[in-house]
Amino acid sequence: MNDSREPIGVIGAGWVGLVTAACFAELGHDVYVRDIVQEKVDSLARGEVPIYEPGLSELITKHSDRLHFTVDMGDVLPNANLLFCCVDTPPSYSGDADLSRVERVVEEVGGSTDHALVMKSTVPVGTGRSIRRRSDSLGYVSNPEFLKEGTAVDDFMRPDRVVIGEDVNGATPFADRVAALYEPLEAPIVRTDVASAEMIKLASNAFLATKISFINEIANVSEELGANVDEVARGMGLDQRIGPQFLKAGLGYGGSCFPKDVTALKQLAGNSGYHFQLLTAVIEVNELQKRRAIGKLQKHLGTLVGKEIALLGVAFKPNTDDVREATSLVLAGRLQSEGAHVRVYDPVATERARDMLGGAQVKTSASEAVDGADAVVLVTEWPEFRELDWHDVKARMRRPLVVDGRNFLDGELLKQAGFTYEGVGR
Ligand code: UGA
Repeated sequence: MNDSREPIGVIGAGWVGLVTAACFAELGHDVYVRDIVQEKVDSLARGEVPIYEPGLSELITKHSDRLHFTVDMGDVLPNANLLFCCVDTPPSYSGDADLSRVERVVEEVGGSTDHALVMKSTVPVGTGRSIRRRSDSLGYVSNPEFLKEGTAVDDFMRPDRVVIGEDVNGATPFADRVAALYEPLEAPIVRTDVASAEMIKLASNAFLATKISFINEIANVSEELGANVDEVARGMGLDQRIGPQFLKAGLGYGGSCFPKDVTALKQLAGNSGYHFQLLTAVIEVNELQKRRAIGKLQKHLGTLVGKEIALLGVAFKPNTDDVREATSLVLAGRLQSEGAHVRVYDPVATERARDMLGGAQVKTSASEAVDGADAVVLVTEWPEFRELDWHDVKARMRRPLVVDGRNFLDGELLKQAGFTYEGVGR
């Protein structure tokens, strides 16, 4: 039990908001969670969690006495001074982040002198300054999240660092109070100004995306020069200045964060008159990886018109049912526009994706998906795909062609089993 309890408000019961709320409850605090969707609030109050995130529903059940779900901001404001803003900031058509949901929250709480908005939502650099200019009575703290889907609870409880940005004209206690909430986690706390905190978030995601596009280009060149990108990544990653993470070559990054944040940072730079050359290339390489996978199918199958292509995996990565900006959706669309018939299978994500897959057939097992297929493309590295009986898969397929988009399968084993195997940079 935490002896310095601080009632907390969480605005937005999406993925970030729920993880934040559940973890602060785990740290001993009462949390008032506000969402505008009545049905969501009702189901959360019954202990039903609308998203798939390991460990989250257990925490929400365990702390049902500390977690209060409501649609009414009036239930939050009298109870908590720190309001963690966790609403989403999706990309708009121009590539800029759409801040309308953040703006609505500011309108609702802007007049207060007792409250601070603690910004967890990913926002453009300069957002905090502009909110403060309009509502200078309201406290403002930037506290970006660095949670990964699938390990978010653990990332929250064992962070590499906590970033807290505040601009002060004289002493204000709000950022100190936010910092105190994180002290039990014993992680380095980076206290800085708001604009720098906002930039730390965008720059971290953009750097990780750059790392992925970099290793993807090394993979593409390795295919030409006869090197194996897995070996190259292993050798590079042992250099502590480089590190082994985010060096997995494949079909490129997806999800609700990297594509959005890389584009947003590039756009933000452009709006300020600076052309961010590197990020333009990062985005191009990410697109290229999908085209190259289709090229590998064409190399072996010729035209794709009428060909049956099985996509294994729909989620943007394993251990999540999130399909936002998922590679599978891009591939399904492009393959169909090439005239191929596409079938897909995913252990958890097909229901969410059903409406976004165009005419692709949704199958209920991997075996069903590969039946009569001319090629299999491994899109998401779910462990069950490694465990497949590949002899049985071969017997079911019309042609034994596997394009392993994540370098996840044992290529040598598949070749021995009689498959034509194409990895990425292998
Ligand atoms: C990412 C960041 O990793 C988090 O730190 C951040 O908080 C979050 O965005 C956010 O801004 O909210 P997430 O989108 O959940 O988290 O997923 P990651 O595990 O980072 O993977 C992103 C994409 O990169 C996936 O499509 C994955 O398949 C791909 N990836 C990742 C690679 O292609 N290669 C790699 O080596 C690593």
